[in-house]
Amino acid sequence: MTRRLEDLISPFLSGVIPYVPGKPIEEVEREFGISGSVKLASNENPLGPSPKALAALQAALPDIHRYPDGPGYSLCGALARHWDVAADMLVLGNGSNELLELVGRAFLVPGDEVVYAEQAFVVYDMVAQMCGATKVRVPLKDFTHDLDGLRRAITPKTKLVFLANPNNPTGTCVRPAALEAFLADVPPEIILILDEAYYEYLPEGERPDAVRFVRQGRWLLVLHTFSKIYGLAGLRLGYGIGPAPLTAILHRLRAPFNVNSLAQAAAAAALTDTEHVARSRAVNEEGRRVLGQGLERLGLRVVPTVANFLLVDVGRSGPATCEALLARGVIVRPVAGYGFPNHLRITIGTPEENARCLAALAAVLGKAS
Ligand SMILES: Cc1ncc(COP(=O)(O)O)c(C=O)c1O
Repeated sequence: MTRRLEDLISPFLSGVIPYVPGKPIEEVEREFGISGSVKLASNENPLGPSPKALAALQAALPDIHRYPDGPGYSLCGALARHWDVAADMLVLGNGSNELLELVGRAFLVPGDEVVYAEQAFVVYDMVAQMCGATKVRVPLKDFTHDLDGLRRAITPKTKLVFLANPNNPTGTCVRPAALEAFLADVPPEIILILDEAYYEYLPEGERPDAVRFVRQGRWLLVLHTFSKIYGLAGLRLGYGIGPAPLTAILHRLRAPFNVNSLAQAAAAAALTDTEHVARSRAVNEEGRRVLGQGLERLGLRVVPTVANFLLVDVGRSGPATCEALLARGVIVRPVAGYGFPNHLRITIGTPEENARCLAALAAVLGKAS
């Protein structure tokens, strides 16, 4: 055989580095021969799913021999009521991750420019790369989006802008007025993807009303997920809210049954459990305070966060610190790949998990906890 597989793949794929997820607990425990580890690496809800979602899952189980509701008619209806939009302004994805990829496949061709922050969710970079688009990455300012810089980076070749608010991996947000001014200012022929995966963690007064722009018909897709505060990461369900002509394009592209029936049933129930969401937010706020203060007592600088994770400067190699924490059964995320070689990203956990993390970090850094 003279042909090699590598010669046949799309030239754009050769530079794609696979997404590195947080290590699963089982893998760490096997590797280090330990038990009772805590995972604070993937920004999951430490309280788990809503009991209502679990009950809905149980109730949906006997029907899994049936194909799911393809477009997610019932869930889209519930989300449409939740956001006060028409149901055709919704599109479901196998995680919001799938919607990011669909957007790339739908709109990007080589030569297009895609604008996003230099320290942004890694999937934006992967999508641009896979489509052969030109990446235009704008450095953050004080760990926060530089909206003026992003606006200035837009040229006639720009097709898409990705913006996460709150941002991952920094956990910072931009003020609602500034974001809404940005949305109003970006030329209407640019497609904006506003990734609000951590939106529900924002304090009430800090939540921008981006959906208002969607109702006006702006080419804006607002992405949400059931993976974070709703505690359903394992089921994979995200959704986009966009003007109907935009969501229709994504519906054309998505696989016929891209979101499974169990995910749809659990998400619809989770959406009604406002108490679980409120409790998750309260536990996160208290955890953020305690973990933040604990880290500062260790002499570490913490980036002010509004999300369910913290970025902290450990003053030494982040990846090496992560490895040392792994051996103590605490799984956090190194962020050197984002240009933060001395930082860790730590998901805010339960009080017990936060205490474990602080004690392990104190031991690794050789400080009294
Ligand atoms: C900013 C941001 N967007 C999107 C996602 C993807 O979420 P999912 O595909 O689970 O909906 C994540 C996951 O960590 C994220 O941090």
